[in-house]
Amino acid sequence: MCGIVGVIGSRDVVPLLVDGLKRLEYRGYDSAGIATLSATGAIERRRAEGKIVRLEDKLRNEPMQSLIGIAHTRWATHGAPNEANAHPHATERVAMVHNGIIENYREIGEELIARGHKFQSQTDTEVALRLIDQYLADGKSPEQAVLAALGRLRGAFALGILFHGEEDLLIGARRGAPLAVGFGNGEMYLGSDALALAPLTDRIAYMEEGDCVILSRTGARFLDADGKPAERVVRATAISGAMIGKGNYRHYMLKEIYEQPAVMGDTINTVIGPKDRLAHLPDLGIDLGSITRITIVACGTSYYSGMVAKYWLERYARIGVEVDVASEFRYREAPVDTQGLAIFISQSGETADTLAAMRYVKAQGGRTLAIVNVPESSMAREADGILLTKAGPEIGVASTKAFTCQLVTLAAFSLAMTQARNALPAEEVRRLMAALVEVPARAAEVLNHDDDLHALAEKIMDARDVLYIGRGPCFPLALEGALKLKEISYIHAEGYAAGELKHGPIALIDEVVPVIVIAPSDSLFEKTISNMQEVMARGGKVIFMSDRKGLAHVDDRTFATVVLPEVEPFVAPILYAIPVQLLAYHVAVLKGTDVDQPRNLAKSVTVE
Ligand code: AGP
Repeated sequence: MCGIVGVIGSRDVVPLLVDGLKRLEYRGYDSAGIATLSATGAIERRRAEGKIVRLEDKLRNEPMQSLIGIAHTRWATHGAPNEANAHPHATERVAMVHNGIIENYREIGEELIARGHKFQSQTDTEVALRLIDQYLADGKSPEQAVLAALGRLRGAFALGILFHGEEDLLIGARRGAPLAVGFGNGEMYLGSDALALAPLTDRIAYMEEGDCVILSRTGARFLDADGKPAERVVRATAISGAMIGKGNYRHYMLKEIYEQPAVMGDTINTVIGPKDRLAHLPDLGIDLGSITRITIVACGTSYYSGMVAKYWLERYARIGVEVDVASEFRYREAPVDTQGLAIFISQSGETADTLAAMRYVKAQGGRTLAIVNVPESSMAREADGILLTKAGPEIGVASTKAFTCQLVTLAAFSLAMTQARNALPAEEVRRLMAALVEVPARAAEVLNHDDDLHALAEKIMDARDVLYIGRGPCFPLALEGALKLKEISYIHAEGYAAGELKHGPIALIDEVVPVIVIAPSDSLFEKTISNMQEVMARGGKVIFMSDRKGLAHVDDRTFATVVLPEVEPFVAPILYAIPVQLLAYHVAVLKGTDVDQPRNLAKSVTVE
């Protein structure tokens, strides 16, 4: 996902822009650039393919200094990741940075070519830029030119725009991709999120869908989707510059894995009754007892947390649950039960498919609950109810602490539903809640075994294929373990329901394919053991993850074992997330991949 930073400063903005881009690196990108106004008001640009350090090299060789500028990290959608396609795009009159997709760029591009425009890039962004340029050439003011262009553009985008000779004017526009306005002292800022602006200000106003903002050094003037003046709330964000650094960790991902005991504890504290030790959710504005059915929609790792919740809700709250990936749900025109509840799970709160799915349900009159990690995100603002995970900023592209905080939140939600439906006696709910409260301490114990996971990583790092298997709520953990491994180490990995092996995947088993068996000693343990025996009978390399009780059942044919604390089966899926995260992390480090920003990936996918 691309990143946008803009500054109208009272000092040289170039270092501020570069620092802002660095805070957006976690979003994933393949080129970067800056545009400023020179002392004579002319537009200047420096752009570079690859990482921001390449842009910094350019700036050292060809310095720029200015009191106003825009900057961008690009995750290529239209046009190869090279300097010519890097943002900002510019003409003599105007420069622009863009996050998102312009859907009608072809037809507008053809019109502009017919009017003599000569395109320099293969991007949809340049079409939007030249449309504004043409309106300026036709005599419109910068604000009118932008509003006229917004009236023609279709798609999802956030824009930052700079104008020749206008050293006290920046214009931003938001439609489908987030954009924030930062308020400084005699300075104003634009950013894709609060993280980008954290070192500059903690006073942030989030633009609404369709907004346009006109910035000068003295403030911001908002226009709504109809072009009418609008007021937007300025909030103090909790994100500080300090929260974003790696500290003493080699990678953000490792820091975030180790933050899990603390942030799971913070999250649990928001969903438990301090006195009665039962589940107490913040006011959702939804009567849980009236819910007839639950639909859970998400993407990637967030989808897997929803899959775990299905087991909990059906087993304890005795309510039917369907779970689907957002990219499928949003197009299958599922009937929406207005007495049901649709839950949307997202770390970023901006994933395009999940947001679109939520808007589909709302349009059908359905009730929506968002479980998100970013309070100011689109999903947090648009859902009927929200449950905030307290994971703090998650910078590593591979989701770790957000996932376990989602699970903790979903576990508490499942118990709250159980209570609302009187599906279990309060004493049983209290016992399950007590197990949940224990998870942060158990997680800290698992982290003490990090060296064992590192040793195991050395044994599987050269594998071509890896299989993960599990049953019940540990089946989604098998999927998550496989996703973690493949997305950061680039080793092909698949997760399977253990009972499915004999229906095909067992053909993959030979002495070089590691099979990671996720098997807490729960009611399904014996079944999983028999699946493990099937694997070992064919010479498979079984890596067995269980507790001491479970490990007593394995013999020396097992390739390796990972011992975890024995916990109430209800919370085992949360705990078993940690060894699969650590294993993937160590394999990736051993393979030398870019752990925090794996190739081809973005932290939040705000385009389809
Ligand atoms: C997880 O490690 C991946 N980075 C990815 O699958 C992610 O979970 C997915 O893109 C959903 O993102 P979200 O939680 O921000 O919606």
